[in-house]
Amino acid sequence: MTIEEIRTKYLAFFESKGHKIISSASLVPDQDPTTLFTGSGMQPMIRYLLGQPHPMGKRIADSQKCFRADDIDEVGDNRHTTFFEMLGNWSLGDYFKEEQLPWIFEFLTNELKLDPKKVYVTVFAGDEKNRIPKDTQSAGIWKKLFAEKGIDAKDIEIGTEENGAKTGMQGGRIFYYGAKKNWWSRAGAPENMPAGEPGGPDSEMFYEFADIEHNKEFGEHCHPNCDCGRFLEIANSVFMEYRKKEDGGFEKLSQQNVDFGGGLERMAAAVNDSADVFTADTLALIIADMEKLSGNSYAEFQKEFRVVADHLRGAVFMIGDAVTPSNTERGYFTRRLLRRAVRYADAIGLPAGKLAQLAKRVIMSYGQAYPELARNADFIQSAIGQEEERFRKTLEKGLGELKKIATANARGAFGFSGDALFDLYQTYGFPMELSIEIVANLYKEQGNTAGIPEDVRKEFAKAFTAQMKKHQELSRTAAAGRFKGGLADASVETTRLHTAHHLLLAALRSVLGDHVHQRGSNITAERLRIDFAHSQKVTPEELQKIEALVKEKIAENLDMVRLELPLKEAMVMGAEMEFGVKYGDMVSVYVAKDKQGNIFSKEFCGGPHAKGTGELGAFKILKEEAVASGVRRIRAVLGDNK
Ligand code: SER
Repeated sequence: MTIEEIRTKYLAFFESKGHKIISSASLVPDQDPTTLFTGSGMQPMIRYLLGQPHPMGKRIADSQKCFRADDIDEVGDNRHTTFFEMLGNWSLGDYFKEEQLPWIFEFLTNELKLDPKKVYVTVFAGDEKNRIPKDTQSAGIWKKLFAEKGIDAKDIEIGTEENGAKTGMQGGRIFYYGAKKNWWSRAGAPENMPAGEPGGPDSEMFYEFADIEHNKEFGEHCHPNCDCGRFLEIANSVFMEYRKKEDGGFEKLSQQNVDFGGGLERMAAAVNDSADVFTADTLALIIADMEKLSGNSYAEFQKEFRVVADHLRGAVFMIGDAVTPSNTERGYFTRRLLRRAVRYADAIGLPAGKLAQLAKRVIMSYGQAYPELARNADFIQSAIGQEEERFRKTLEKGLGELKKIATANARGAFGFSGDALFDLYQTYGFPMELSIEIVANLYKEQGNTAGIPEDVRKEFAKAFTAQMKKHQELSRTAAAGRFKGGLADASVETTRLHTAHHLLLAALRSVLGDHVHQRGSNITAERLRIDFAHSQKVTPEELQKIEALVKEKIAENLDMVRLELPLKEAMVMGAEMEFGVKYGDMVSVYVAKDKQGNIFSKEFCGGPHAKGTGELGAFKILKEEAVASGVRRIRAVLGDNK
């Protein structure tokens, strides 16, 4: 089955169960300051899971674009990808376990025709400390579902991964695991969640690739959550009904939700009984093109082909959502993807300058489901072509650098360090093994026939890995800080800044002209940042006018009113749309208007906002600068109004 077929079947199935199908939100989260990219299907749904009514109702399904930056270095095995599509269905205070589990089981075994004997499930073992009960209800539902297929499903307590490795399958079909495995929230396990964050027990489905032997490197025995590759998680039903309290405990949300997510490619892997997600048609087609262009085979260079296919696809989707390669925040990830793709393409023997051509294949495979790709095809391809060209110039310099280092050490003193390797990796995207290979070859060319001795290589690798770890810990700390800053005290500060953001955009358009549209935005609890289209510097006089206008509108205490209306009406109304965001048939628009009904600002937006602009207090523009050609950036803050 193709990716397109599975996606279509899934959406049709949930439509037949009363769900409204919505289009994917952008990879750039619109109101979620906690992460750089949309990394799960539920992220754009947060506010509805917390109780705000969704304009399309209580039953929603979609296929959401997701990007997990953390996985960049993992790509190369048979299952990791940075970009993936997550099939989702949501009950927003509507159906619960009794409907969700039978539906998803029916979909996988009847519609996709998975052999139920190869399906294993996990449920939540309970969390005594937080008084969250063991999910015997889900286990009971699973028992019945398997019985209907003639399978006697035994339930087994496993608890932790460590215990699973010790005890193995024990003839079980339903497995209880604790909060590390069967609890889902954006922040992970209950103790990692900030106050206010929603989460809940989940029940996962795994597919067994019977021809993959358990690998003891991952533990003595195999079990569904073992990482050896025999089992693949293909579906996750989260019963999202809890929220963390300020005192560290948990309370029930105002509604019981279901947040279901299933990796589309993983489902395809199960359906096609191939543990390699890169055999899914969308990725396999890119790989086939690469084989033709390079004359080399996937079987021989699996890791390299996978990295190029994954990274190129990721970059296409990023640029489709206006995240072009650059050195700043999000754009840096697009840049890294493309640079790594170039390095690995070279290793395969792909002729230089072919990435833009390969990108066309991605656009063809996905252009129908994600029309933003088809619409921006030329732009995406030229951005990729330019980045490849630019990087090749940088590479030449990097190689020069390497040569210098190697020459300096030609006498055999291996002064070349793991730290230097890490620098090359950071600056030029040189993978460690590649740098070592190049250095070894250079040594040989200079008559040092022994190349680099094995123990020195090991030392390099060790120092490199240590640097890498340090770097990852730093970025994790930064991510954790971001999470906390974004959520822990998000409610009041971020909401006020968000409202100020609307006023500022309207003021910019009023002072600079209607050509001004938002190109990017980022709001933390401390400040707001807006990127907008405008081709020259904003003069100090203009800035003063803009700031004064925002202040005036704060003083007028405009009402922030939320409207729910059909997309067409919102467009006729002239509400500001967000760049790179796609909208469903019904949209939410926030207007800021005075008591006489005069509208100052109107924007497509899901909220949340202050009730009135009077709540914002003092407003100040801190800085105006260029971020890209034709795009300016302004940072602004609100003073303390207490
Ligand atoms: N939020 C859950 C996940 O990402 C299910 O959608 O796995």
